[in-house]
Amino acid sequence: MSESDATAVLESQVPLPLLHRGKVRDVYDVGDGRLLMVASDRVSAFDVILPQPIPRKGEVLTQLTAWWLDSLDGVLDHHLLSCDPDEIVDQVPSLRESRGAWARRSMLVYRTEPVLVECVVRGYVSGSAWKEYRAEGTLAGEALPEGLVESQKLPVPIFSPSTKAQTGHDENIPFSSVVERLGREEAHRLRDLSLTVYEHGAAITKEHGIILADTKFEFGHQADGRLLLIDEVLTPDSSRFWPADLYEPGQGQPSLDKQPVRDFLDGLTDWDKSPPPPDLPDHVVRETTDRYLEIFKRLTGTDLDEFRPPRFG
Ligand SMILES: Nc1ncnc2c1ncn2[C@@H]1O[C@H](COP(=O)(O)OP(=O)(O)O)[C@@H](O)[C@H]1O
Ligand SMILES: [Mg+2]
Repeated sequence: MSESDATAVLESQVPLPLLHRGKVRDVYDVGDGRLLMVASDRVSAFDVILPQPIPRKGEVLTQLTAWWLDSLDGVLDHHLLSCDPDEIVDQVPSLRESRGAWARRSMLVYRTEPVLVECVVRGYVSGSAWKEYRAEGTLAGEALPEGLVESQKLPVPIFSPSTKAQTGHDENIPFSSVVERLGREEAHRLRDLSLTVYEHGAAITKEHGIILADTKFEFGHQADGRLLLIDEVLTPDSSRFWPADLYEPGQGQPSLDKQPVRDFLDGLTDWDKSPPPPDLPDHVVRETTDRYLEIFKRLTGTDLDEFRPPRFG
């Protein structure tokens, strides 16, 4: 057993100033231009956070992000300083006593000013892209080939940005709107970097029998202007991973991670998919934990319990 999984965490309690509780991460100020990002075990479906946490989920998201960023060494700059608990305590001694509350699920990162555009790359037409294509024949306002079916592979991966909504749903925007918001140079840079990291990720997942259908990246600027890849990277929460052996265009695909939760919720006749959400039965929680652990193992080739975080810097 690893040191983080004694209890699942719905809301972390860490003795630092809390800056933000997101859907999944609690973000604390460490000072000196750094943040502690604690991935909780919160799970959402149909845009609501469910009452039960999924044990080990936060740890999977954090360690998988570290594994991907290690594989991207030399490709682009990123925000991760460390996710090794000993290194984090060395750098932030005030965290020593509360170690059980954050170890293994947390990243020490450079604090940035996030770019207010979500950098989505799609290799397949699914989700909100499928909805738009079916209605308009476009993706983010730009024409796509005719006759695509749901979940079909696109001729080439497409940068398909969206607004980073503070509340409510993100909205797909055309590339021209990114240029207007951020300027030509930055817009092109974000697109190029996003496509590069998508191609990197898709090639690696493919070796493990997983299709990277789409994924979302975030970028931020450090005080000196340096552009960094931030947030989580190529995790099941930020990406659609599909089992390649079950892939069948023309329909929605099963999800490798949250399918037990979705199946359970879809099977309910008395919940209208708006808050408050229903309780998840124990077996659904257990099956979902197993899915997250399985994805981690399939991608990294290592059991989460055996995984030692890579060293950065
Ligand atoms: N290095 C960073 N500097 C500043 N903000 C960051 C950094 N990395 C991630 N973030 C922000 O922290 C938040 C992560 O919490 P999360 O639960 O994923 O939030 P959300 O509900 O917005 O997805 C996001 O708002 C993300 O933009
Ligand atoms: Mg997020």
